Amino acid sequence: MDDKDTKKLSKLRTPREIFNLLEENVAVVLDASAVKVFTLDESETKLVLRRNIDLNPNQKEEPVNPLNTSIWVQDPLIVHLMDVQKAVLTREINDNIAVALTEKRKTFLNAVREKMSALGAEICVPGFFKDKLVVIFMFDKKMSKHQYSQVEIEALGALARQSARVIDSFNGIKREVELFVSSIRKINDELEAKDVYTRGHSHRVAQFSAIMGRKLADEVSKIPFGEVCLYYAAELHDVGKTNLPVSIIQKQDRLDDKEWEKMKTHPFESSKIIKPLEKWFGRVVIEAVLYHHENFDGTGYPYGKKGEETNILARIIRVADTFDAMITDRPYRKALSHHECITELKRIRGIKLDAKVVDAFLEAYKEGLFKEVFYSQLESGA
Ligand SMILES: [Fe+2]
Ligand SMILES: [Fe+2]
Repeated sequence: MDDKDTKKLSKLRTPREIFNLLEENVAVVLDASAVKVFTLDESETKLVLRRNIDLNPNQKEEPVNPLNTSIWVQDPLIVHLMDVQKAVLTREINDNIAVALTEKRKTFLNAVREKMSALGAEICVPGFFKDKLVVIFMFDKKMSKHQYSQVEIEALGALARQSARVIDSFNGIKREVELFVSSIRKINDELEAKDVYTRGHSHRVAQFSAIMGRKLADEVSKIPFGEVCLYYAAELHDVGKTNLPVSIIQKQDRLDDKEWEKMKTHPFESSKIIKPLEKWFGRVVIEAVLYHHENFDGTGYPYGKKGEETNILARIIRVADTFDAMITDRPYRKALSHHECITELKRIRGIKLDAKVVDAFLEAYKEGLFKEVFYSQLESGA
């Protein structure tokens, strides 16, 4: 690790960015044959395997033993790391066993060594934040068979410390976001419960969108937290309807012009309700909701935005929302068959809907990726 890595490290904001740095730079520079990363889970009773990277090209990839995908906090390895609060090396453990004064101590250290060997760890580097063991990096032997140097061990210690800080603050933000989203979800659930036609709608739109998002990962992942923003925006896109009169939401007939004008305000109302998400995810998540009724040809509402003037998340939600509206009964018509929906999607592909998003949808449909969503629709009775 050099200055460049340290600079990069200070800019990292998410666990995923840290793990990528570890995989792409650190492990390579160290010449490690394999790296594992464990992080403390929410219950704080175990550390869970988050990354398992095998860098030895000659090694056939072996499946991970399920017993080694999490480590309880009472495990001797964790107890030992908590005790010494620094990197632990197999060779050091061996030395300690040789000079252990009691049988009990020897048994304990043997258990630590066995665990490290089972995990393929030549060195375990713990990362603490406020005395909490947040992360452990485990490196297997170097491919050159050389030993890890003191300088490397110290650099890894610094990396683990910084990572623990990032992971802990990330988890804190995650908890705050989840708390906020779950409160909005409640409003959404109440809204959907009022209207038999939209029961389960948000959930299905979120699922359809997430699946399309994975198909369009190249574009979605360019947005910071793109997948998460897509999911939340899709789930909460209609929550603004809660601010509309019940007489409009529950109307069993087509809306008249005045009611329809009112209905067209719901994307804006939704964007107002989810506004706090902006501080964590930026404007993109708000715009994904605000523009979910914009059409690719500019015929949508509220602004008549065209083509790629709306972000990819809004264009994905637009397709999911359109499809879900077609597969459910509406006050003025029965649900369409899947065949009819697909024909309609193809007809408006590149006109009202972004062609590449429709293609992603059709591909996923063909591959049967939406099956679970359709089952959930049957269960909800929508
Ligand atoms: Fe909507
Ligand atoms: Fe909708």
